[in-house]
Amino acid sequence: MTNAAPTPLQTDRNLARQQRFWTRRAVSWDHGAGNNPGLVKVVNQVVEQAAGAPEDHAVDLGCGSGQVTLALAPKVASILAVDISDKMIRLLVDNARSAGITNVQGRATPVEQLEFAPSSVDVIVSNYALHHLRDADKPVLVQRAYGWLRPGGRLVIGDMMFGRGGDSRDREIIASKLSLLLRKGPGGWWRIAKNAGRYLLRFQERPVSIAAWEKMLSEAGFVKVEATQVVNEAAVVSGVKPGS
Ligand SMILES: C[S@@+](CC[C@H](N)C(=O)[O-])C[C@H]1O[C@@H](n2cnc3c(N)ncnc32)[C@H](O)[C@@H]1O
Repeated sequence: MTNAAPTPLQTDRNLARQQRFWTRRAVSWDHGAGNNPGLVKVVNQVVEQAAGAPEDHAVDLGCGSGQVTLALAPKVASILAVDISDKMIRLLVDNARSAGITNVQGRATPVEQLEFAPSSVDVIVSNYALHHLRDADKPVLVQRAYGWLRPGGRLVIGDMMFGRGGDSRDREIIASKLSLLLRKGPGGWWRIAKNAGRYLLRFQERPVSIAAWEKMLSEAGFVKVEATQVVNEAAVVSGVKPGS
């Protein structure tokens, strides 16, 4: 993982690209996410680890159309759902209304530009979103989340977590992704070429290993840092801000 700080221009370009990409994919993500058994398992694990007290105020970073937000909402007092795509937020608000959920608020903002008062949030969650951040922006967000949480507050991150082939788990995950695409024929080969750009050039998909997330949380000051591998490629890493 490189620690070189991105220039504002690089960050702006990345945000514009993410916004376009996810606005185009919002409806298909909304329809498809619930049918992906692996993703559902990770969502459930994030919700289970995030649910604490009914009076908690929660924030969901990169909320999509509400996969974690809507499952967590009945277990907390309120939840602010944040996403870079305005289209995702509109779908989330519609989904909340259809489900009769009233304690959810949506905000269309990149997580890199979020501001909250210090110690004002009880729990921060994120699922399958933070691998889209530039590598240098990940630890900055973790440090900022630490500041926003009250003492005793929790950060729970579910995501695809693997490196670029540096250890046997990485190689196993990359091989299984490749073999899945190879079996799809020419359409899959095209996806391999596209994904090679996205993953290897860290253009769109920028996952880092479980150990890298654990290190970011520990270095920010979180304690009780724990990792749970949920499916082959994905894990949940969580930590608690000390004090109470
Ligand atoms: C793979 S989807 C996951 C959505 C949802 N959390 C879930 O579990 O299904 C990734 C989401 O992250 C959002 N996202 C990507 N980069 C972001 C950023 N910089 N700030 C806020 N949201 C972002 C996308 O718009 C998209 O909704």
